[in-house]
Amino acid sequence: MIPPLIYSSDKCKSSAETLATSIGTTSSDEKEMIQHCHLYLSETGLSFFHPEARSTKKFKIDFNSGSTRWRTNRVEHEKLIKKALGKHEAPLNILDCTAGMLQDSLLFLSLGHKVTAVEQSKILFHLLSDAINRSNDQKIFKALTLINANACSYISKGQKFDVIYFDPMYPTSKKSALGSGQLEYLARILAIESIENDSIQDFECLSLMPIQKMIVKRPIKAEPFSKKINYQVFGKTTRFDIYI
Ligand SMILES: C[S@@+](CC[C@H](N)C(=O)[O-])C[C@H]1O[C@@H](n2cnc3c(N)ncnc32)[C@H](O)[C@@H]1O
Repeated sequence: MIPPLIYSSDKCKSSAETLATSIGTTSSDEKEMIQHCHLYLSETGLSFFHPEARSTKKFKIDFNSGSTRWRTNRVEHEKLIKKALGKHEAPLNILDCTAGMLQDSLLFLSLGHKVTAVEQSKILFHLLSDAINRSNDQKIFKALTLINANACSYISKGQKFDVIYFDPMYPTSKKSALGSGQLEYLARILAIESIENDSIQDFECLSLMPIQKMIVKRPIKAEPFSKKINYQVFGKTTRFDIYI
């Protein structure tokens, strides 16, 4: 269930009401709700709070600073993702089936590709849309289409892509899944929305798409989803399995 949306002041009331309707929740300025799980809209943007999260800070996506900004500014150093994409004569049309916090999509965009990023979580989709609207760099988002859907339903619409990118959540029992505050928040958002994925099933469905290449990001020691891998690109903690 989507938690209520609390707004900080009357200035945000009307945007909060519109947003709440589009997310499918209620809006209010009841400050006593602030201890409970909620979405929060202020003049500085939209955030999410969960009382049981290890971080006491609200979860808010920000493309203007932090590691995403740093990585996109020096994208020529992203050897692994460049190797996974391989040689191409023209910019690629990439379907990122697991938008998450858009970090990988932003690398693709910084490398000059066109990206359609699909995110199944409504909450995350709205946090991303808000962060995009607040971004100081609107130019990079011109080549991005952000979709709120399950990627397996989305591909049935038949749109053509050169590359499919798939980076499912790591199993929650693994320490790595809770390793960063952001990933913990992501897992909590999916739990709140009662979203559960079967990554193998999703992989099988996505691999039916007629595309040049499918890139799957996996923890370094995880079993591949299929034995039909064409090649792998290894990093320190993760690897890319490439299916052609
Ligand atoms: C590990 S995160 C992806 C992180 C992302 N690559 C990034 O760079 O920020 C996985 C995300 O994909 C989403 N996801 C997983 N399976 C999906 C599917 N079948 N369709 C749409 N979204 C999916 C989850 O909701 C979650 O937000």
